[in-house]
Amino acid sequence: MSHLFWYPGHELILDDIVRAENCHLYDSRGRRYVDLESGVWCTSIGHAHPRILRLLAEQPAKIGHTGFCYTAGLVEDAALAFLSLLGLDGGKVVFLCSGSEAVEYGVRLAQSVCNRPLLLTMKDSYFGAYGSASRKDENEWFCFDWAKCADCPASRKCAQSCPRWATIPFDRIGGFLFEPGSSSGLVRFPPAKLIASIVSTLQERGGLVLVNEVTTGVGRTGLWFGFQHYGIAPDIVAIGKGIGNGYPVSVTAVAPGVVGRLRGQPVKYAQSHQNDPLGAAVALEVLRVLREEGLIERGREVGAALTAGLEAIRARTGGIREIRGRGLMIAVEMVDDAETTLTIRTHRELVRRGFILGRRPGVPVLRCDPSLTIGRADIESFLEALEDVLAGPADPEDSCY
Ligand SMILES: Cc1ncc(COP(=O)(O)O)c(C=O)c1O
Repeated sequence: MSHLFWYPGHELILDDIVRAENCHLYDSRGRRYVDLESGVWCTSIGHAHPRILRLLAEQPAKIGHTGFCYTAGLVEDAALAFLSLLGLDGGKVVFLCSGSEAVEYGVRLAQSVCNRPLLLTMKDSYFGAYGSASRKDENEWFCFDWAKCADCPASRKCAQSCPRWATIPFDRIGGFLFEPGSSSGLVRFPPAKLIASIVSTLQERGGLVLVNEVTTGVGRTGLWFGFQHYGIAPDIVAIGKGIGNGYPVSVTAVAPGVVGRLRGQPVKYAQSHQNDPLGAAVALEVLRVLREEGLIERGREVGAALTAGLEAIRARTGGIREIRGRGLMIAVEMVDDAETTLTIRTHRELVRRGFILGRRPGVPVLRCDPSLTIGRADIESFLEALEDVLAGPADPEDSCY
């Protein structure tokens, strides 16, 4: 792989995967691996889902890509389906190519509608590889550190009497970009009271609430969308990753009230694959599969079983500090040293035994975010392997795969 630029934040451990089906990857020697990370949290309905394969064979033979002055009716059908799912009927949608792009589109739209200079967000949120939200420039963003709010004993709505709340310059803030859960991969959930307080304070002043559902959307957290755990009504929703099941498509959906505030002004954002019929068709088909196969409920149930199994291993072995998660978005935080030796060893040994989890260098966390279609037998064999690895002696020679 010496002729590829590779993202430096992760370790490349397998380089000859030749085939994938649901949660199983196969290398050229026929070895099978269980993908508990669903790629980069993208294959929501499993690798090579038959309905997506069929669509990818048939749709390009009809119309896959269009131009700025012609389109296909199915793109409007897909837009209506997303607006209805989100309760944003009468609003508008744009289909784009990546999560970063969907967030950026929402941010630019919010900035053009809001007449205040700043957007508010949480300090530990991640929004993408490029664009304003990835830079979080202090002239455009107020980043709130909610860590100390996690154990706040106050039962009422956040108020000016709280010194942390008082630091938020609401007079200068036109919108709130909320990522309901991934927290830069660590799976931390900002408290519901804080989020409800921010949302109501801003919406009372005409501010906008944008939700980044790139990671938490389409069933990942046990509900269709992560914001539904907070009982809030967003104005703009960005969806990515799982909505394409591995195909690069993303969605930005905008409430009718926000569309009205544009007063007919266009959002000046042009790229070649915006509203492509192929991407829109894939997103619509994934949405239909999730609904027709009951995968949101299934993901919630399998997630509960996986979490219970991990909790039992935590109680029986000394290696796990905490399990955090909702649905099938789960972080296993290890009891580890500064070099994250145990996390690395556990990750490598699990790969050797045929199980792929997420791991980011320098962080004592393993991520489990399998497809909502993962088999229960795969969950059980993974839990068995994990317990065996954590219960076994540390072997300094185990660094090969
Ligand atoms: C929470 C969150 N938002 C946005 C993005 C950006 O999505 P993409 O990598 O598809 O551009 C990511 C990617 O990991 C993410 O985790």
